[in-house]
Amino acid sequence: MSEPKEVFSSRLGVILAVAGSAVGLGNFLRFPGLAAQYGGGAFMIAYFISLLVLGIPIGWAEWTMGRKGGLAGFHSSPGIFHAIVKTPLGKYLGLLGFIIPVVVYMYYVYIEAWCLGYALNAATGTFSQPGVNYGAFFNSFTGAGSNGVALHFGLQDVGIFVLLVYACNFYIIYKGLSKGIEFVCKWGMPVLILIALIILGRVLTLGTPDPLKPDQNVLNGLGYMWNPRGIATGLKNPQLWLAAAGQIFFSLSVGFGAIITYASYLRKKDDLVLSGLTATAANEFCEVGLGGLITVPAAFVFLGAAGIIGQGTFGLGFNVLPFVFSKMPFGDFFATIFYLLLFLAAITSSLSMLQPGIAFFEEGLGLKRKAAMLSLVLLTGLGTLVVWFFSKDLKALDTIDFWVGTVGIFVQGMILVMVYAWYIGIDQAWQETHEGSAMRIPDIYKFILRFVSPVFLLVVFVMFIAANVLGWNFSLAAAEFKPTSYVTDLVGPNPSAVARGTFLFILAMVSMIGYLVHLSGKNWNKQIGGNTS
Ligand code: PHE
Repeated sequence: MSEPKEVFSSRLGVILAVAGSAVGLGNFLRFPGLAAQYGGGAFMIAYFISLLVLGIPIGWAEWTMGRKGGLAGFHSSPGIFHAIVKTPLGKYLGLLGFIIPVVVYMYYVYIEAWCLGYALNAATGTFSQPGVNYGAFFNSFTGAGSNGVALHFGLQDVGIFVLLVYACNFYIIYKGLSKGIEFVCKWGMPVLILIALIILGRVLTLGTPDPLKPDQNVLNGLGYMWNPRGIATGLKNPQLWLAAAGQIFFSLSVGFGAIITYASYLRKKDDLVLSGLTATAANEFCEVGLGGLITVPAAFVFLGAAGIIGQGTFGLGFNVLPFVFSKMPFGDFFATIFYLLLFLAAITSSLSMLQPGIAFFEEGLGLKRKAAMLSLVLLTGLGTLVVWFFSKDLKALDTIDFWVGTVGIFVQGMILVMVYAWYIGIDQAWQETHEGSAMRIPDIYKFILRFVSPVFLLVVFVMFIAANVLGWNFSLAAAEFKPTSYVTDLVGPNPSAVARGTFLFILAMVSMIGYLVHLSGKNWNKQIGGNTS
């Protein structure tokens, strides 16, 4: 391989890059929406249990396997699994670690473009004009109103921002690991936290803006977000556990194929245990300590519970909040920096979805950096076009998010933990995790990684499929199977052409990428003299 070997320039650099990947739209939009929906404190119990038995340990497993693969000369998930699982099929265990980041990027970057567009529209006063209709703006800007409408390029259309965001992402990737990604995360993360603190200060001092509605004050807003409501029934609700476990994976970027690639650039004696924990702690600070105190309380103060209930993640972030900001003193300023914050959070995440793809094209197909980038632009650009054009009800976006961004990560999480704890073997794996580490993990985690995490994951996954694909209502007494729209859109009596088309698109991607992995396997065998497939 003629390309110079890439490394992070410092330990802080890799921690910030992983934290940058983890801190994203999930922290500031998805988390508050879910926690409010599932009863605040009740949700947090399942959330913290998932953090302890899934997020943290599987994260360590992913870091360890990444470094192990990197030491063998591989940086993409298929390559890393090829190096670790020594059978011809090994590399396919890493397939999802390439598919998920590349395919999730296709729509994640589209939402990133909304954030930039909303920031500019806030700065130019669009949201504080009298009589502005926030719902109508959202529908035409994002294309949620009808197909094709978002393919325009004015200031109040998403088009120009999609192009800008693509240019930014690929420019940074082109600069390389330490001059590009690490540099952006080193500056971006502190700025992001600073902005969040400023907005938090604003929200916590809102008081009771409307004296005629004394109940709508900051304290009640915080209470709405955090007071445990219905713990006993909440914890019996499997949907709550699914939401909590899914959020942990999504938020920490575990099981996506992003961390495994970043960790592959570490050296043998670099610390994993503490680095992983530090990145996790940074994510939880941003998620619970910042994200959890901003959006929902702010919306509550101006609109009460009625304004929040039933708003999905996007409704809250792009429909309710512009209105909420317009009610505050200096609203345009706060809205601008809020959407900039979302943009910063998103771009450090989307970069981590591109690096696995670049690494694969370089090491699997032997492409040079420029050619690898161009291939990835074309591949992801095609997907973004699909999401951008078939935007009505955000159907294409939602279909990809469900099948790849949600179902896919459970499967990849399971593969990771099984290869780590069962294939490598817990004792050997444990020793590798601790190589160069500044602290020891309590031994109980050996047991957790071998049994608790896989079983917990399997149970959650089976319930997830039962609930969302088969549509079981979880009542043994009145068992009723009613598939959700994700399935009826594909095979029901009234299928959705867009959902079907998008699903076929995903299948086409999976087959094509599978074929590329097959090709790369041949290249790797040539290089190492064909001791595996
Ligand atoms: N963790 C990111 C978020 O919370 C999403 C993400 C997942 C980013 C996987 C990169 C890889 O928004």
